[in-house]
Amino acid sequence: MKVDVLLGLQWGDEGKGKVVDVLTPKYDVVARFQGGPNAGHTLEFEGQKYVLRSIPSGIFQGDKVNIIGNGVVLDPALFKAEAEALEASGHPLKERLHISKKAHLILPTHRILDAAYEAAKGDAKVGTTGKGIGPTYTDKVSRNGVRVGDILHNFEQKYAAAKARHEQILKDLDYEYDLTELEKAWMEGIEYLKQFHLVDSEHEINKLLNEGKSVLCEGAQGTMLDVDFGSYPFVTSSNTICAGACTGLGLGPNRIGEVYGIFKAYCTRVGAGPFPTELFDETGDKIGALGHEFGAVTGRKRRCGWIDLVALKYSVMINGVTKLIMMKSDVLDTFDTIKACVAYKLNGEEIDYFPYDITEGVEPILAELPGWKTDMTKMQSEDEFPEEFNAYLNFLEEQLGVQIKIVSVGPDRAQTIERYTEE
Ligand code: GDP
Ligand code: IMO
Ligand code: MG
Repeated sequence: MKVDVLLGLQWGDEGKGKVVDVLTPKYDVVARFQGGPNAGHTLEFEGQKYVLRSIPSGIFQGDKVNIIGNGVVLDPALFKAEAEALEASGHPLKERLHISKKAHLILPTHRILDAAYEAAKGDAKVGTTGKGIGPTYTDKVSRNGVRVGDILHNFEQKYAAAKARHEQILKDLDYEYDLTELEKAWMEGIEYLKQFHLVDSEHEINKLLNEGKSVLCEGAQGTMLDVDFGSYPFVTSSNTICAGACTGLGLGPNRIGEVYGIFKAYCTRVGAGPFPTELFDETGDKIGALGHEFGAVTGRKRRCGWIDLVALKYSVMINGVTKLIMMKSDVLDTFDTIKACVAYKLNGEEIDYFPYDITEGVEPILAELPGWKTDMTKMQSEDEFPEEFNAYLNFLEEQLGVQIKIVSVGPDRAQTIERYTEE
């Protein structure tokens, strides 16, 4: 069997959690492969709303196996809070959730370092989620990390060594902090973590595939936040792209099946960094208000703009996307016209590719299409789509060269429409 991968094509928050939940019935296993509690994946069903940060979005559906892979960074304190809230709401997970021993731990001092590095950057700060993501991946790559498996063996020593190193850096930075509360919650999280299946997930996932089980890999963040291909340095610290599923789970590239690329009908970004199609006018405010564009975890206002097809084409290429999924179509229901960026002007010259650096001098060239001016939120099938909406879909498919297989018309699980079902 192969694995299917679902990942964001923009700057995150495309609606990955919702669609993973919608697709979960078709799979036996759902696995996260990168990122950590910087993610906030929202799911809505039966009048309830849940936000997941480290736990895969397949957790609500029966006895599916959910895996937190080696590529993920895990904060035991935040994990405990998330898991306990789920259990309290009637969703048991101890038997269903398997955690890679090779996943790296976010230490309390990683969170402090995240804040200290941001403060040191001043105006050039990234606008991170403050969850210690960058410092944890830095320690992983520099071979100083503490892993989940370490909590079973010689843990105190490993923790103390890492903490001492971080404290020295914080002293050099002259950064004031208080670790007491963070460390207490974190140590409780470590004890809590011991109750879970801590596994060699690369063996487990390959065994499951060999037994004929189907696996969906759930990306976090988005391609434009990828540490290699995103809008560097305004990115996260992991590979958010399809290849991240191979390294973050221990899968050979020949194991990759469908690649679902998910995008909003417009575009948003939270945190600092370039965003060529950003709107600073009332249209941007309207998209933000109708789309409730506030961070699922941090509550930060998301910046809004039109869809960027230059960036999307790049994301389709980097990920080898085989199926597209368009989210939040309903947010554009009341607009007279819809715009889409088809090329950039870079230092006065028109280009149709994503350049090395989009931090300066990039202006969007926008195509204009008629709006559909129809409430789509209760639609059940593509037969109900207004003509102008179909024209928008056709335009995007032509530009991107991949079919849009799923259209989302509202946050609820039920507000999801599949297309090309006859194939
Ligand atoms: P993720 O990080 O990719 O899982 O996305 P987030 O959960 O951070 O943000 C997506 C937001 O849009 C959440 O509040 C969802 O409930 C909401 N949402 C998802 N799909 C739709 C949709 O089709 N229409 C509307 N109006 N909201 C949606
Ligand atoms: P989901 O999975 C949107 C952004 C931050 C910041 C940059 C680096 O919900 O789509 P980090 O804390 O990772 O070092 O921050 O990345 N960012 C996200 N933006 N959605 C996310 O996750 C994000 N995770 C990180 O805002 O600009
Ligand atoms: Mg999110």
